[in-house]
Formats: sequence, C-alpha cells, structure tokens
Amino acid sequence: MDTIQLKKEIERLKKETGTIILAHTYQEPDIIDIADVTGDSFFLSKKAAELKAKRVVMCGVRFMAESVKILSPETETILPVPSATCPMAEQIAPERVRKYKGENPDAQVVAYINTTAALKAECDVCVTSSSAIKIVDKLDADKILFIPDQHLGSHVKEKLPHKNIILWDGYCPVHAQLTKEDVINCKAKHPDAKFAVHPESPKEVVELADMVGATSEIIKYAKETPGEVIIGTEKGVVDYLALHEENGNRFIQLSPEKLCCEDMKKISLEDVYKAVIGSGGEEITLPEDLRQKALISINRMLELG
Ligand code: 13P
Ligand code: SF4
Repeated sequence: MDTIQLKKEIERLKKETGTIILAHTYQEPDIIDIADVTGDSFFLSKKAAELKAKRVVMCGVRFMAESVKILSPETETILPVPSATCPMAEQIAPERVRKYKGENPDAQVVAYINTTAALKAECDVCVTSSSAIKIVDKLDADKILFIPDQHLGSHVKEKLPHKNIILWDGYCPVHAQLTKEDVINCKAKHPDAKFAVHPESPKEVVELADMVGATSEIIKYAKETPGEVIIGTEKGVVDYLALHEENGNRFIQLSPEKLCCEDMKKISLEDVYKAVIGSGGEEITLPEDLRQKALISINRMLELG
C-alpha cells in the first residue's frame, strides 16, 4: 500500500475497531496526520483519561503509553514499536529511590513525567516541564530529590532558591547535546529572531533564551510571537509548526542535526496500521499494585498543578 492508501485504511480501521490514535508532537508529520489527538506528554495522558476509549494506540515512547494505562486502566493501550523508549526515563533504578527514601525520611521525591511507571510508583509526586516549578514550590518537605533530569531540575532549583533541591545526574541525550555556540551561530544568521527552548537543555543554552517551556508552551509562544522564532527542541515541533501555521518558514530549527529523537521517530505508518489491526506493537500491562502507586504520584501532580 502507498502512503495515501495506508492512511485511508488506518482511518477506516480506527472506526471499525473503536481505536483512538494519540500522537506526541515529536512524531513524523504522517503520523500526526492520522492521529485523533496530538499534544505533549501530559496533555495526551489527560486526554486519554477523559476519552475513556476502548482502545488507544499511543504514538510516542513507552513512558507515555504507560501514563495512559496508569490513568485509564480499562483502556487497551498499544505501543506500536516496543523498543521506542525514552532513555532518560530509565536512568535511575527504582531501588535507588527506595534506598534514598529509607535514608532520608524527611525528603520527598519528585519525578519528571519522563520516568517509568516503576519509578513513578516509588516517588511522592510527578511533574511535567510546564508544572515543575509550581508543584515543587508547593511541597512542604525540607529536602527534595528531583529525578531524573539534572537540567530541568537545575532550572527549577534556580527559580526556587529557598528550596533544598537535590539533583540526580540524568539527562535527555537529545537536548543535553546543545551548546551555547549552537545558539550564537543560529542567532548570527537570524539576528532578530526570538529564541524558545525546552528546559531539558543545559543551563548555558537556557540562559540565552527569551522563553523556556514545555512542548505545548513553546508552540503557543511561537504562534503568538511575530517574526522569526528559533526553536530549541526536537525537530518534530518545527515540522508541526511549519505545517499548521501560516508563514511556517519563520520557525527556525536550532541545530537540526542534534535535535532529532531517534526513539520518537521509530514509529512508521505501517507500524500504526499493524497496531490498529491487532497484529503488531505491544499491549501495555502493569501490575495493579504498581499502577495504583504510580497513580498516586500522578494524581498529586494533577491536584498541585
Ligand atoms: P513534553 O512533556 O513537553 O511533551 O516533552 C516530552 C519530552 O520527551 C521532551 O523531550
Ligand atoms: Fe526522551 Fe529526550 Fe527523546 Fe524526549 S527527546 S523522548 S526526553 S530522549
């Protein structure tokens, strides 16, 4: 089947099987095209819970499909490519968190949403890049361990100097590659452009930004800002803006060679097709006690955020 036929077939099969396709904004434009809902990781899992779908195909990485399952246990949730994982989500073993909590009973552990369900189950509260500052500020603990992203963690720490925040040394292998030279070189070519960046980027890069925020916040800022905007996050965001906004060429990709997440790009239309007809992908299952513990951290995030 060619691309057009494949898309038509997926649309037909979605209706026939009662399947909803969710796609993170970092996905390839063809996947975004056949998705019912597109957005950042937090928006997608919240949406999945609201939709109460019989079946969801989650086009993103494993922690996103797990988040859907944590919030919507009745929904059959399929990750089209089982090896699509966020490397950062696994940079700390759940046992390390358990040990830390045993040794530091006065501390609370804050987990970035980019973590496995097993890690979420060991933590006190989850945060997204857009809600991290607000939520950490509200915690009444003396000590806060922030896992796993050191860059998002240090951004939060800088904004909340009154908090005792201990950082883990995890990082996103995509955003962490950025350097201030990347920004300086790009600004030299686009001197009037504003610069928006994801907080998973190193401090020297964040310091040069006009705006720091999560995927959805960067998209909002880019749409509302006149003129050129340099986008310091995964290239799917620029592809999305170029296709969905007028004057799409005013959005400039910072470092296209670095800002491509291989895991996010693993899913093809064929993979989605197979997942929808039930002959491919992996159905996400979680032990019920672990799911319930992970749900506590996510629900706390929803309450505090
Ligand atoms: P969002 O939470 O902004 O969707 O980001 C997910 C992610 O993987 C960022 O690299
Ligand atoms: Fe994980 Fe980074 Fe890829 Fe996002 S861009 S999914 S944080 S590796």
